[in-house]
Amino acid sequence: MSFLTRALINILITAAEPQARCKQLKPEEEEKAILVGLDLDRPGEDIERSMEELALLAKTAGAEVMERVIQKRDAPDRANYIGKGKTEEIAALVELQGADLVIFNDELSPSQIRNLDHVIEAKVIDRTNLILDIFARRALSREGKLQVELAQMHYLLPRLIGLGNQLSRLGGGIGTRGPGETQLEVDRRVIRKRINDLKKELNSLRKHRSLHRQRRKRNRQNIVSLVGYTNAGKSTLLNALTGADLYTEDKLFATLDPTVRRGTIKNGQEVLFTDTVGFIEKLPEQLIAAFQATLEELNSADLLLHVADLSHPDYMKQIEVVRNHLANIDPDYYKHEIMVFNKIDLVEDPSEKAFLKREFPSASFISALTGEGIEGLKENIADYINCQRRNLKLYLPYSEGKLYSEIQKYGDVQSEVHKPDHLELVVIVDPELAKKLEPYTGSQLP
Ligand code: GTP
Repeated sequence: MSFLTRALINILITAAEPQARCKQLKPEEEEKAILVGLDLDRPGEDIERSMEELALLAKTAGAEVMERVIQKRDAPDRANYIGKGKTEEIAALVELQGADLVIFNDELSPSQIRNLDHVIEAKVIDRTNLILDIFARRALSREGKLQVELAQMHYLLPRLIGLGNQLSRLGGGIGTRGPGETQLEVDRRVIRKRINDLKKELNSLRKHRSLHRQRRKRNRQNIVSLVGYTNAGKSTLLNALTGADLYTEDKLFATLDPTVRRGTIKNGQEVLFTDTVGFIEKLPEQLIAAFQATLEELNSADLLLHVADLSHPDYMKQIEVVRNHLANIDPDYYKHEIMVFNKIDLVEDPSEKAFLKREFPSASFISALTGEGIEGLKENIADYINCQRRNLKLYLPYSEGKLYSEIQKYGDVQSEVHKPDHLELVVIVDPELAKKLEPYTGSQLP
């Protein structure tokens, strides 16, 4: 049974039995994998690094990498992705090494998977499939699980052809088939229905979360979101900033579910820190779409801490990947981004830091693990947040008692003069309250 079929059957079984979805799938025994990539000699692409990352993904998914095979080509082969001769070579290697799994470094088309499946006597999966598998194992919250399942369904829908009869036993069956429908149509209908159900359930969870978000905003809590490439050290930094005990691991995508923690930055000033899913190059489209709602939380953040792993040989490329993802979510993200270079304890050459300090003058250099630079980072955050605060002279009518108490609660009153029909105030407030107070900032009363 091919990997796709098995994955699909798993999904349909869990779709049929809601309780089963609550069980974490037991990690399988370590499978032996061969990695296959194409060197297309494109500018800016480094196949060795990309294969290194694929190996780390495979390890994260619980596989042992036996061999890496790279083929140089001008373009992927339409039928097999790699050349025909190379496919046979891989088939022989699979036998020789006793490999269970062949993982391709790009997303394969449905027909490529089918063709490779015919020649190679092992499970054939692609990078997208591998990442979906990791996400499926790591999602903990209900929303995370549903989002991953939605992504899996979108991935599988165009790949249904050739899965044979296995699906009909689960999804279709007597009484479910419409007049004149082929098995493939029935299978697609089952998947589409599941996609609809998932979307509905996700929508209601989203509404619930947006209420929480509104409450946080109403309480004027500053929200600082940690973003960055997977494994950059976001969770470790969140722990360092908040004293929380979060799960961190030297594997990819340890964090899938957004976490919110309270922390203090300077003079006891409180902010809310949130951790988000890590980004990666070639993050499957289906996943980005499924996680869009979670990522949109970033829009409501007052500040983004962009965490980069300074000890990674490719950290500049990783920064670029993250920035590209961020720009897709919010084109103005850079207006509230602070770069945080992490893992300085692992970096030996300080001259590189000097170049970065010129390039990113407001960046912080830290070690989330040893705590070095954390106090400086907190000051950096406080400076940013306080710089956003505005100094206003107000002419506030006595009838605006509610606004006056908001100012007292969330702002700093510098001076207050009681006039016959209004209050004259000089205040420092956050941008949101400043917006509300705009009608009272002119020299005339509104
Ligand atoms: P994802 O959940 O995959 O997005 O990862 P993350 O960005 O949350 O990274 P995480 O905090 O899980 O850290 C990844 C690995 O890097 C862990 O093994 C951490 O112990 C390690 N790490 C984090 N910060 C530092 C640091 O400052 N120095 C060193 N030496 N290791 C660090």
